[in-house]
Amino acid sequence: MNNQDISPNSESAIGVFDSGIGGLTVVKALMERLPHENIIYFGDTARVPYGVKSKKTIQLFTQQITEFLLQKNVKALVVACNTISAVALNTVKKLAHNIPVIDVISAGASEALKVTNNNQIGVIATSTTVNSNAYARAIANYNINARVISKACSLLVPLIEEGWLNNEITRLTVREYLKPVLAENIDTLILGCTHYPLLKPMIQTEVGSDISLIDSAITVAKTIANELEQKKLLNHDDSLPDYQFYVSDIPLKFQTIGEQFLGRTLEHIERQILG
Ligand code: DGL
Repeated sequence: MNNQDISPNSESAIGVFDSGIGGLTVVKALMERLPHENIIYFGDTARVPYGVKSKKTIQLFTQQITEFLLQKNVKALVVACNTISAVALNTVKKLAHNIPVIDVISAGASEALKVTNNNQIGVIATSTTVNSNAYARAIANYNINARVISKACSLLVPLIEEGWLNNEITRLTVREYLKPVLAENIDTLILGCTHYPLLKPMIQTEVGSDISLIDSAITVAKTIANELEQKKLLNHDDSLPDYQFYVSDIPLKFQTIGEQFLGRTLEHIERQILG
């Protein structure tokens, strides 16, 4: 039987996906905000990074991941990757039909507008996300007067995956990338890549306490909590939630890095090849 024939209910899992392990920062925020929810995560670790790939390729990979999660009868889909949200969100929405789809860009853009006082918003992200102009478009949708200053920070994902979270080279790299953004009068900075929350303390020190950081992981968790409540899909079952992690490859150091992102032990990991 096709699982899509069975309607998801409140006990169905939330499907979360990313190009790799970065989306685990979103899973961490979801676990904290919605401790009764079952979660199924897919990370495309065999094909990461997406941030440097073409739109067509990202859309094809996104279609495969979405179909995989829909077969698991998820009740909502969380696009925990800025790059996918920037160039392939419609692919997810078309396949999801009436299942709620929450993406990091819409959530981050609306939160930034709630926080900013001067409508000058900085965004740091991967090259694909910056080149897509997705944040600027999402922000303009809500407020045409807001100004967005974006900067692609291509070296940050590899530095974070190397585990260099408290490292001088990473600090200097962050400082260099932030220079043009801080030269503008921003009061809010969006961490536009799901890897970046791991550098939050360092970035906050670099930008100073007058600039508010928008962590899309926290914002997405808030948004999905509201959406599920409205749709009466919150799980009120008191038993321990079930967490399943699927990845397309289990590379060296995966466990260590994954646990840094998740902030707890990473169990029940299964390899799932798509396509
Ligand atoms: N997780 C991706 C994002 O949020 C970054 C990693 C990649 O390039 O695939 O944009």
